[in-house]
Amino acid sequence: MQKFEIVGGNRLCGCVKLKGAKNSVLPLLSASLLTEDEVTICECPNILDVENMLKILKELGVKVERDGDKIKTSGKILNTEIPDSLAREMRSSIFLIGSMLGKAGKARTAYPGGCAIGRRPIDLHIKGLKELGVSVTESTTHIDCKTPKSKNENGNVCTSKLHGADIYFEKVSVGATENLILASVLANGRTILRNVAREPEICDLVRMLNAMGAQIKVVGSSILEITGVESLHGIVYTPIPDRIVAGTLMVAVAMCGGEVQILNCEANHLKAITTKLANSSCNITTRYGITLIESNGAPAFMRALATAPYPGFPTDMQAQFVTMMSIANGTSLVSEKVFENRFGYVEELKKLGADIEIVHDIAVVKGNSKLKGATVKATDLRGGSALVLAGLKAEGTTYVEDIFHIDRGYESFEIMLSELGANIKRI
Ligand code: EPZ
Repeated sequence: MQKFEIVGGNRLCGCVKLKGAKNSVLPLLSASLLTEDEVTICECPNILDVENMLKILKELGVKVERDGDKIKTSGKILNTEIPDSLAREMRSSIFLIGSMLGKAGKARTAYPGGCAIGRRPIDLHIKGLKELGVSVTESTTHIDCKTPKSKNENGNVCTSKLHGADIYFEKVSVGATENLILASVLANGRTILRNVAREPEICDLVRMLNAMGAQIKVVGSSILEITGVESLHGIVYTPIPDRIVAGTLMVAVAMCGGEVQILNCEANHLKAITTKLANSSCNITTRYGITLIESNGAPAFMRALATAPYPGFPTDMQAQFVTMMSIANGTSLVSEKVFENRFGYVEELKKLGADIEIVHDIAVVKGNSKLKGATVKATDLRGGSALVLAGLKAEGTTYVEDIFHIDRGYESFEIMLSELGANIKRI
């Protein structure tokens, strides 16, 4: 099994160009099922989750080709069952259901996989699909979804389209919002989605769908109105840059010291992150679209930090900030309010010398730790990236194992970091 070998202590200097956001590209690939025309998505990162999504699309009968960073899809859905092994590989398989139902009227999948960061139920997805007229049969391992059968004018049974509905999400959910948008763009009539997630990746999905001919309006800060249309046409689309990769790099500089320019960062998407970093001793400026982050590598502690749905502080940056706080000049309290079990990486971080105690949903981070190299295992995608950040700072050599977790969301993480001066290699 591959691992990263990291010798800590180097400052980071240079510039980076971000690829498209993982959490945009995945729903955009699902959206490509809603038309048989060619859809081209540019700037796609070369990461495991995207590769798995392409395997699923091919299993569904869609033509898929990859030309460098461009992914092209076209053709009909010929099979409406997601293979179990692929469905269990990642969480994103769940929001293929919305597109499959919208376009083909049927979908069957095993329960989705993904990071071990909580129970990750799909009750909000199922509840919303049922309100659009989907009949859902759940077994202990699979979900079977069908649009109701109806007879057409000459009496033949056919799958009717979904019908619009007024849906309220009891909890803000990125995936459920995406799934219901995908299911309703081709439905009969109007759908209202209330209390939707407002992540930039959702705006990206709405932007691409509208450019494909969908009619989605933002009618309130967290209300969408979707008027179903007959069909969607193809498009060439470039997703937003990955704000979590950008945020992870910024924390690396905040911990190691240095000056790094991020060439295509969408500064508006990182306000919660850059505000916290600026309070903690980084100097961050954005000019002509280029974001410069400078730091002396001595972060100040944060009395309290809590994760929240966008535009709050992102849960996908929690592990990276806890790691940074482990070397800060005091005690910080970081609470995880989105997922119920997202501190799995902390035990590994403590092997590197961090002094952290978990009390309910709060990490009490003592700070002033002198991190020392050791062998640790990535537990999930963002927790794994945080262990790499710790290794970049730790004295001596750190080995991070199970790096397939990290490869799910960071393209050649070791190359990106070594090009900035880090001493890290994949062995
Ligand atoms: C998306 O996951 C992202 N994944 C996650 O990124 C991200 O952490 C998360 O949104 C929150 O921003 C992708 O976009 C592929 P949710 P998702 O539905 O959609 C509960 C990463 O590191 N919930 O917004 O699964 C759920 O348990 C990954 O890139 C229900 O209760 O997240 C959680 O507590 C990790 N019922 C909360 O809502 C449901 O039906 C937020 O989950 C659905 C969710």
